[in-house]
Amino acid sequence: MPETAFINGRFLPLAAATVSIEDRGFQFGDGVYEVIRTYGGRPFKVEAHLARLEHSAQAIGLRQPYARERWAQYILEGLRLAAFPEAKIYLQITRGMAPRDHAYTQELEPTVVMTVRDLRPQDPTLQAAGVLAMTTEDIRWGRCDIKSVNLLANVLARQQAKQAGVFEAILIREGRMTEGAVSNVMVVRDGILVTAPEGAHILSGVTRGIVLDLARRGGLPVEERYCSRQELMGAAEVFLTGTTVEVLGVVGIDGKPIGSGAPGPVTHNLAKRFQEQTG
Ligand code: PDD
Repeated sequence: MPETAFINGRFLPLAAATVSIEDRGFQFGDGVYEVIRTYGGRPFKVEAHLARLEHSAQAIGLRQPYARERWAQYILEGLRLAAFPEAKIYLQITRGMAPRDHAYTQELEPTVVMTVRDLRPQDPTLQAAGVLAMTTEDIRWGRCDIKSVNLLANVLARQQAKQAGVFEAILIREGRMTEGAVSNVMVVRDGILVTAPEGAHILSGVTRGIVLDLARRGGLPVEERYCSRQELMGAAEVFLTGTTVEVLGVVGIDGKPIGSGAPGPVTHNLAKRFQEQTG
């Protein structure tokens, strides 16, 4: 079975997988999710993703359907059935199925879904050349630390980027950079790596954590603080981190070049050391 789905403990071909139109995920975006990828066919940082899934579920009062070991077994089983060289694993828990009413009852059975799809490695020319980005207002809610399926603001920002012909939308809240629509954003200024602090305004990325750790271990000073749009635009280097983007240089924002207009040495170094972690 190539493209594989899982619904509440049962594996089936993706094309055959359906859930009710009365699922609260569908009607309210009432659920949480994770995206995990493989390297060399093995799922990367499963523990960290499952820990964040627990954080997200707990934050919205959703009970965890499975212990971590069970999740990990299901992920491996999904990978085995799909048998792609590299795969993207999507996990989602929604509050379950009920007649539409904003408030819910505790008895609902969560709907647990997983998909396993083919993952094509990122185009190496993208890594080498870097990407363009735009800034846009961060109109998201006040709990961006929860990886909620309610992604409308991210969807609109990413679509704006697509229409502008750029790769990512960098979100600005009250003049300060938070993160990207699908990534965390890091800035290099005066030899210091600056990125928004963990808290309610960003999703604390698994990749972000790895990269900050690599930077600190390599002797690069790190400041977890907000930087202004002006600081972002005047940075020596800017790069994105995330499961899908990995470590990706940003060479222009809002039509203006960043640094030399090519991915800089800090970006190169961290991208290379991140790759080493995935081997
Ligand atoms: N998103 N910030 C946001 C808003 C994200 O959606 C993501 C990832 C990240 C990076 O997190 P991580 O390093 O744990 O992947 C940061 C996934 C890939 C998605 O929604 O498809």
